[in-house]
Amino acid sequence: MSKVAVVYWSGTGNTEAMADLVAQGVRAAGGTADLVQCSDFSADRIADFDAFAFGCPAMGDEELEDTEFLPMYDEVEPALSGQKVALFGSYDWNDGEWMELWEQRADEAGLNVVDSVIAKDYPDDEATAECMRLGALLA
Ligand SMILES: Cc1cc2nc3c(=O)[nH]c(=O)nc-3n(C[C@H](O)[C@H](O)[C@H](O)COP(=O)(O)O)c2cc1C
Repeated sequence: MSKVAVVYWSGTGNTEAMADLVAQGVRAAGGTADLVQCSDFSADRIADFDAFAFGCPAMGDEELEDTEFLPMYDEVEPALSGQKVALFGSYDWNDGEWMELWEQRADEAGLNVVDSVIAKDYPDDEATAECMRLGALLA
């Protein structure tokens, strides 16, 4: 059984809804999940968990949110090399390029990225199932 940190930033609630679903997926598969707002997470908490799900919507121009999420992520990523990580987030008008760039970055940093899920706006039934599956992969 894994203890999973679900760490997220959300401006209008869509990625937050995904975070809830990922946590539900972890728990349904027998793991434990802590939902953590990104401003409350830092590298010194990594040792408390077995696996990690990071959630951030597409912001800027296909970028991670750069006031709260990116500073946290920049700090923790080097300490996550080899760790089991899943990525998720919501987007609207483009096609998910921010997630491709994020996955590529995480791969290059040596993270064990098990999968990622994107949802257009609020997670629909298909994205709901995908978020639950993502959580189960980490449990
Ligand atoms: C400042 C800003 C920048 C955004 N940039 C993008 C973008 O580059 N590509 C995209 O597909 N959606 C973009 N969006 C849309 C958000 O990703 C989308 O509304 C998402 O559902 C927000 O998730 P949240 O409810 O978790 O904050 C942007 C939204 C805002 C407010």
